Amino acid sequence: MQSKLEQLKTEALLAVKAIKDKIGLEELEIKLLGRKGGELTNLLKGLKDLSGEARKQTGQLANEVKKEIEEALAAKKHELSAKEMGGLLEKESIDITQPSLPIKARGHFHPNTLIQNDLEDFFSSMGFMVLDGPELESDYYNFTAVNIPATHPARDSHDTFYIKGHPDWVMRTHTSSVQVRAMQKYGAPLRMISSGKCFRNEATDVRHEHTFYQLEGVVVGKDVNFAHMKGVLEAVCQHVFGPETKMRLRPKFYPFVEPGVNGEVTCFLCQGKGCKLCKQTGWLEVFGAGMVHPNVLKEGGIDPKVNQGFAFGFGLTRLAMLKYGIEDIRLLESGNMKFLEQF
Ligand code: DAH
Repeated sequence: MQSKLEQLKTEALLAVKAIKDKIGLEELEIKLLGRKGGELTNLLKGLKDLSGEARKQTGQLANEVKKEIEEALAAKKHELSAKEMGGLLEKESIDITQPSLPIKARGHFHPNTLIQNDLEDFFSSMGFMVLDGPELESDYYNFTAVNIPATHPARDSHDTFYIKGHPDWVMRTHTSSVQVRAMQKYGAPLRMISSGKCFRNEATDVRHEHTFYQLEGVVVGKDVNFAHMKGVLEAVCQHVFGPETKMRLRPKFYPFVEPGVNGEVTCFLCQGKGCKLCKQTGWLEVFGAGMVHPNVLKEGGIDPKVNQGFAFGFGLTRLAMLKYGIEDIRLLESGNMKFLEQF
């Protein structure tokens, strides 16, 4: 019986080798190993007539033979599959002269995004990091950390949306919330901007919306001073409104800076002569800024005796409205296609 097994193996391996297609391979597999009438199965029926040691040895040999045949079959299957794939690839071709399908609608950026991308590029070119911050923010980062403690009257003008069951969470009211996050993460020296959505509980009208965009910036270092702030902000204003643009700073209170200023540019529509857009003043208010308050630096883990810096916040939405002549802020979040398709 052992020699019959050896013979079966030799013949089976030769047969596998000669196979040319998958159907032939399946047939051969059944012929050799099939449970009913398979050649090996038939041979093994003789096992029960053997006894003792002979039975054990023959059984072992039969297992080895079966395994070898199975391996040969698997290898052949693999080989045939690979050939099939190769054939498909050979048949495949690309007709590069075929005209493309017509494009029905092409997407484009929202005006807020256009301004944001443009300014992020500009600040990157001046070596600023571009950071992100959460829109759902803690009361701490949005207020307390930027020197607006719980009972501070500045909170009145920052009414926002709160989350049920989470008294310490707010929808951020300004991007100043990223200031202390950035200081804690990167320390000094620091040069960063962060822009994105902000929220306030407003009675909406042409100038007020519950969702709007800001761009925040912070620069901290050993000798960073007010003149640096002015230089950077002037460069930004001229980048946005043109090289002839003049900028002026006037004192204004913000809790997170000391001194604080409000920044205006000459009206690009009337070149400062006075018109409807600038309400006859010749100036447009576009940002708030100032030297970072020592309390804010301390919250950020930065020693105000060693480092100082400036911060600024642009109303990105306001910039977009000015640049594109959008008269009603509510259009920006409206999803109105007639409006959006103009950009
Ligand atoms: N966070 C202020 C606002 O929402 C804007 C602002 C003013 C940001 C002065 C600043 C700053 O960084 O220094 O009205």
